[in-house]
Amino acid sequence: KIFNTSEQASIFVATEIAALIKARQQENKPVVLGLATGSTPTRVYAELVKMHKKEGLSFRNVHTFNLDEYYPMQPDSLQSYVRFMGEHLFDHIDIPKQNINIPDGTLPKEKVGDFCRDYEKKIDDLGGIDIQVLGIGRTGHIGFNEPGSTERSLTRLVTLDQVTRIDAASDFFGEENVPRKAITMGVGSIMKARKVFMMAWGEGKAAVIKKAVEGPVTDQIPSSFLQKHPDCLVVLDEASSSEL
Ligand code: GLP
Repeated sequence: KIFNTSEQASIFVATEIAALIKARQQENKPVVLGLATGSTPTRVYAELVKMHKKEGLSFRNVHTFNLDEYYPMQPDSLQSYVRFMGEHLFDHIDIPKQNINIPDGTLPKEKVGDFCRDYEKKIDDLGGIDIQVLGIGRTGHIGFNEPGSTERSLTRLVTLDQVTRIDAASDFFGEENVPRKAITMGVGSIMKARKVFMMAWGEGKAAVIKKAVEGPVTDQIPSSFLQKHPDCLVVLDEASSSEL
């Protein structure tokens, strides 16, 4: 779905999320959202905050699972996804703290495996992700599933691609400060979501969007696996769709 602007596209995605939250509230049922970080979804989160403040949209029945976190990473660091999500969404809405899940960048290495298994189990126990929000990296990554990630991969510790570390360098005041690893939900974890919105804005994403949407399904472009998802909508602005 191609919109003139990323703003219009973001309002569309936020409205879809809000509609599901309201429908589930009527039935007294929870909603499970898979959430992404990066610049792409910030406007969606801003719209949701606006709906909370102006229209009283409540998040009390919402559970969230973030896709990824750098490893190692302290939650109060400038670059942590815990901090990012607080600033852009969680600190401004009425979601219960215990409903928020973000991969833990503070764990000792020997505990990461168990943490990742528990993360998957927690999602499954809540009935799975209803809506997964995604951005896309220049390597074709979703979450931090870099080229080489398999279709069935689950939550795990991964090594970041050089391109991804270069793209993150300005956030970390230099490439040498960007962590080499991250904990990410897998391609398989994302594929289990009932509905996926993959968003991309700007001409910098046009080339990778063409590969993800029209190229062969390959682990060299992990987002291309979404071509096999039964309900994935790629939400674009004019610029990111310019090579399609
Ligand atoms: C990071 C995140 C991804 C995100 C990507 C794109 O690598 N881990 O989930 O999709 O960046 O970032 P941006 O939206 O800033 O272009």
